[in-house]
Amino acid sequence: MLQFLITVLTVISFTTGENPAFQVTLNNIGLQYGKHVVAGWIQDRLSLITFPDISGDIIGVHYTLSGIRIIKCDFPEPSVEFYPNATGLKTSTIGLSVALNGSWETRFGLIHDGGAFNMAVFNVDVTSVMKLGKNPDGHLSVTYVNCDAKAREVQMDFYGGASWIFRPFLKYFKGNVLAAIETHICPNVEEFIVKMESHLQALNVSVIVDSLVSLDLNLTNSPVVDSTSLTLPLKGEFYSIRNPKEPPFVARPFTLPKQRSYMLSMGLSDFMVNSASYAYYSNQVFTMFIEDYMIPPTCHVRLNTSCMGPYIPQLPQLFPGLLMRLEVYARGVPMFSFQPDSVELGIPLAIKAFAIQPNTTLTPLFKLHVVANVSGDAWIGGGRLRASVMMDNFTLSLAMSEVGPFKTTPLEKLLQSGLKMMVLPTINKILGQGVVLPRMKNVELMNSELKVEQGFIAIVSDFEVLTTDEGFD
Ligand SMILES: *[C@@H]1O[C@H](CO)[C@@H](O)[C@H](O)[C@H]1NC(C)=O
Ligand SMILES: *[C@@H]1O[C@H](CO)[C@@H](O)[C@H](O)[C@H]1NC(C)=O
Ligand SMILES: *[C@@H]1O[C@H](CO)[C@@H](O)[C@H](O)[C@H]1NC(C)=O
Ligand SMILES: *[C@@H]1O[C@H](CO)[C@@H](O)[C@H](O)[C@H]1NC(C)=O
Ligand SMILES: *[C@@H]1O[C@H](CO)[C@@H](O)[C@H](O)[C@H]1NC(C)=O
Ligand SMILES: *[C@@H]1O[C@H](CO)[C@@H](O)[C@H](O)[C@H]1NC(C)=O
Ligand SMILES: *[C@@H]1O[C@H](CO)[C@@H](O)[C@H](O)[C@H]1NC(C)=O
Ligand SMILES: *[C@@H]1O[C@H](CO)[C@@H](O)[C@H](O)[C@H]1NC(C)=O
Repeated sequence: MLQFLITVLTVISFTTGENPAFQVTLNNIGLQYGKHVVAGWIQDRLSLITFPDISGDIIGVHYTLSGIRIIKCDFPEPSVEFYPNATGLKTSTIGLSVALNGSWETRFGLIHDGGAFNMAVFNVDVTSVMKLGKNPDGHLSVTYVNCDAKAREVQMDFYGGASWIFRPFLKYFKGNVLAAIETHICPNVEEFIVKMESHLQALNVSVIVDSLVSLDLNLTNSPVVDSTSLTLPLKGEFYSIRNPKEPPFVARPFTLPKQRSYMLSMGLSDFMVNSASYAYYSNQVFTMFIEDYMIPPTCHVRLNTSCMGPYIPQLPQLFPGLLMRLEVYARGVPMFSFQPDSVELGIPLAIKAFAIQPNTTLTPLFKLHVVANVSGDAWIGGGRLRASVMMDNFTLSLAMSEVGPFKTTPLEKLLQSGLKMMVLPTINKILGQGVVLPRMKNVELMNSELKVEQGFIAIVSDFEVLTTDEGFD
């Protein structure tokens, strides 16, 4: 038996292929809040619903009820629950009542008659199940599974014409009308689900982040529904727009802890962040030039060959009195690693140094390899994502030299203290001010909290829907 289970699990883990780098879980309180918003939205739009005409025959009299409009609707808050049996959602509305009016018309042989009517339908119950799934291209899909509608009671009043003729037949009429209403409800529910599905399919699962990178938010596996939550396993991979290619590392699986007291839980794996780092690295954005004028005047170490004597003794002799230019670039992908309560970042850099000749020609001097390891903490405060970092390790080695060998230790000490005293405090000031959390079009995150776990960052949050105007019209 155990052998069998292991075989099954192995097969599953191979067929699912990619691991999601981004997981979003909607918890029950999030579902209930979302339902509340949607119920209000439906209530607002009920008056716009048009009903098809109802017609039939009673004892040889052909009748038509037309122009049926909702005058008043008592729409009880529906209930919505996660429905693991169908990997979806089950909704039910119990005890809906509607007041309607319209026109009636009868034909009995050559005799035509007509007038107006008022109708009240009570105790309408509607239960429906929809299934959530994944389309081959990774879109979330929603499909109609079943629906059951029951209308239990109707009261009707006819006015105008020879409406008194109807009264004896009202009880037959009621049966027909209730049946007509019942058969119209579920096709409407199905149509609503079909519209929702076409909206989902029209969503772009690849989001443009900026001019350089895009983010794939494909589903990698089917949504997971249990009795308390719905989880979407998303690809969460950044790509360079100009040069999209897979990075030389893969996403590892992670399990988002259950956090039922928040509406949403999100998990971002280190793969997601590193794929962004890789995409920017492929665009060569991690390159900068440093020249003497960029160094504060108060600093007595200048980018001038004559000042380099204490660090590179041969430089003032070979190229006296020349200004220098440094080209600093990432020579590998800056890699993040998430540890419990700490983010570590390793940045492999190269520094190329040039002397600027009086005729502006650049003469290469030497090339250094640098590994900078920083670690930091990230948190959410005042609605902003904030962080602080410190330097863990900074090592320098000589990769190439046009001016002969020299010891790198004095230079390493100089750069280390420069980074610690000037660069890091500036970075920490900026990180401490933080960035506003990304905001989706109509949804604002609130009460967000962040925790760094082994291999991923977990964010729990509540949310608020700002407008629902662009719903499923
Ligand atoms: C789910 O399915 C199982 C077995 O098919 C059934 O016993 C159970 O009653 C179902 N649960 C619900 C809530 O429908
Ligand atoms: C239905 O009610 C509305 C509002 O009360 C009224 O304007 C309309 O004329 C009524 N329709 C019929 C056919 O009586
Ligand atoms: C979706 O985004 C991609 C780029 O990520 C773009 O090329 C495509 O045109 C977009 N599709 C739609 C329908 O907006
Ligand atoms: C969605 O994901 C699949 C593999 O998971 C990939 O082949 C496909 O290109 C992705 N589509 C988009 C639009 O990102
Ligand atoms: C470099 O420094 C030396 C000595 O301090 C100075 O004489 C020289 O003018 C400087 N070179 C430039 C281009 O500023
Ligand atoms: C420092 O960063 C480098 C480059 O990313 C990495 O290979 C190395 O493991 C890191 N060292 C430590 C001590 O974190
Ligand atoms: C610029 O000056 C350097 C050193 O004097 C010389 O080697 C180089 O050929 C000069 N370049 C040009 C374009 O004049
Ligand atoms: C930096 O890394 C080197 C080699 O990986 C190690 O020997 C050294 O102790 C580290 N220094 C610090 C301050 O962690």
